[in-house]
Amino acid sequence: MSVIDEIKQKLDIAEVVGQYATLKKAGRNLTAICPFHSEKHPSFFVYPEQQSWHCFGACNTGGDVFAFVMKKENMDFGEALKLLADRAGVTLPARYDGGGREEEKKPFFAANEAAALYYHNLLLNSPAAAGAKSYVEKRGINQQTIEDFQLGFSVDSYDALKLYLLEKGHDEKTLIAAGLLYEDERHKTSDRFRGKLMIPIRDAKGRVTGFGARVLDNSEPKYKNSPDSPTFSKSATLYGIDRAAAAIRKLDFAIIMEGYMDVIMAHQCGVTNAVACMGTAITETQVNILKRLSKNLLLSLDADAAGEEAMLRTVAYENILNAEMRVIRLPQGKDPDEVMLEDVTKWNGFVKDSIPLVDFLFEKTTAGLDLATARGKTTAVDNLLSVIAAINDPIRQAHYLQKLAALVNVDMNTIQASLVRLKPSPVRGKTVSKPVNVPRPITSSREEYCLAFLLQYPQLREFQANISPDYFSHTINREIFLAYQSVKDVQELKNSLDPALQEHLDVIMNKELPTARNNLDSRLNDCVMELRKTYLRNMAARRAEAADVEVDLEEGVKIGSQLKELDADRVKKRQSSYGKLRR
Ligand code: UTP
Ligand code: MN
Repeated sequence: MSVIDEIKQKLDIAEVVGQYATLKKAGRNLTAICPFHSEKHPSFFVYPEQQSWHCFGACNTGGDVFAFVMKKENMDFGEALKLLADRAGVTLPARYDGGGREEEKKPFFAANEAAALYYHNLLLNSPAAAGAKSYVEKRGINQQTIEDFQLGFSVDSYDALKLYLLEKGHDEKTLIAAGLLYEDERHKTSDRFRGKLMIPIRDAKGRVTGFGARVLDNSEPKYKNSPDSPTFSKSATLYGIDRAAAAIRKLDFAIIMEGYMDVIMAHQCGVTNAVACMGTAITETQVNILKRLSKNLLLSLDADAAGEEAMLRTVAYENILNAEMRVIRLPQGKDPDEVMLEDVTKWNGFVKDSIPLVDFLFEKTTAGLDLATARGKTTAVDNLLSVIAAINDPIRQAHYLQKLAALVNVDMNTIQASLVRLKPSPVRGKTVSKPVNVPRPITSSREEYCLAFLLQYPQLREFQANISPDYFSHTINREIFLAYQSVKDVQELKNSLDPALQEHLDVIMNKELPTARNNLDSRLNDCVMELRKTYLRNMAARRAEAADVEVDLEEGVKIGSQLKELDADRVKKRQSSYGKLRR
């Protein structure tokens, strides 16, 4: 089993999606308000049996767990893979990182370093950076901080950085792999970052691994980060760690914030033990990095935005740390940078008033409940028991059980009995993944068969026009198909493909196909027809199940008539082959 299969095997899509959306049961499936677009009535579905999801509303798209994370976190496949591997407690081999040996990373660090200097000089000296400068000023960042963090500016040009770095002797391929340039389908390369405030991201050793880039207005997305590269991995990055490590050791605690701006302002205000977790939920990798410096972690995150499941996972990190985490509570709607800029003594007060994570979850859960009612009590117990179950330390667990019993004024034995009944939490300590008994669809041989035809027989290339990426329900197959569409041959595909997909590509390249070389067209055609049919049937069945929600009816009619056409085609074909036989 490949690592990718193992991850799919270990993760439950409902749990992953549940981190971003509140799922409700709908028959065999689950439904939610779509986490990708705003809507009043749920048109987003999760199918546990197929381990897939679909939005029938404005998105009209779906896929597997990788597709979900890629869309939600705005990540490429390699990044999503890392995030989910971390989740599943699966270690990715170094080759998934594109080699990964230190010596090989040198040119990438050098290119990033040169780019950081280039952007920084522009911000300091270029008239084109006037807007960026006034933006930085408006955010309260002073000259010293601009220099300390080497903030920069990328001019609104498609080749300014490229020409500069090529002139300096950096190799174009390196610049592409480092994510500084991107390559379009005609192999034209351009600067990735344009007209943005540039924030170099450094590792613990102070080497530039990548960049965060902020727009200078209110447009979305607000930030663009370097893609995953030999030096950069979003889920393993703690922004500011190079400047904060010493202070974290000395003060023996770290403050984890959400964003670049918060950390930059923290250091300017003398809060030197602050790092940022890059906006997404804190990962096990990040916890492990900090653990080496101090086991005391204070969270200053937007707690309202974090899903319930993310919170549970964070509780489980306490087991890794062997210590309690604490939560800093800020006035509603305030980010750390605003609070510190206003008055850093106020900020220090909030730090002093931080409370243990589990107490915070008690507070958060019970805030909207009437604990005098049976209903309020049930909800509180339901939600908090799973938190308590995630605590490994027996003393702490007992402490919070007592707290819960007192809170809802229910006998301690009753609560304890419920805890025992509660199935072991999937997020206990290191064993994040629970054993899975139900076989899960992890590959589709038909999808792979179809790809094998296309890749092994270059003469079939034209056929791709008949295939929609949607027919590939597994992201690994879909990604390979999309990459194949944008290159001219398999060699190029190999070179351009995300390292994490190489292994799967090898599987496809080595797939045994029928040896008969005649009739290739019609064999591939049959295969594609079956894929298309499965896709349409799935859609039709799901629409029928989702009938009580407002799905796009017109789309449903289209699917129905496409299915009919397919059946008609098949009858015709059968008739003609009978005809051939008789002749
Ligand atoms: P926020 O949107 O909370 O950032 O995202 P922020 O620092 O408060 O933003 P401003 O500049 O003050 O308005 C927190 C972090 O999430 C990541 C970035 O790392 C950001 O610092 N992020 C956010 C992205 O990667 N992409 C986005 O589109 C938004
Ligand atoms: Mn902010």
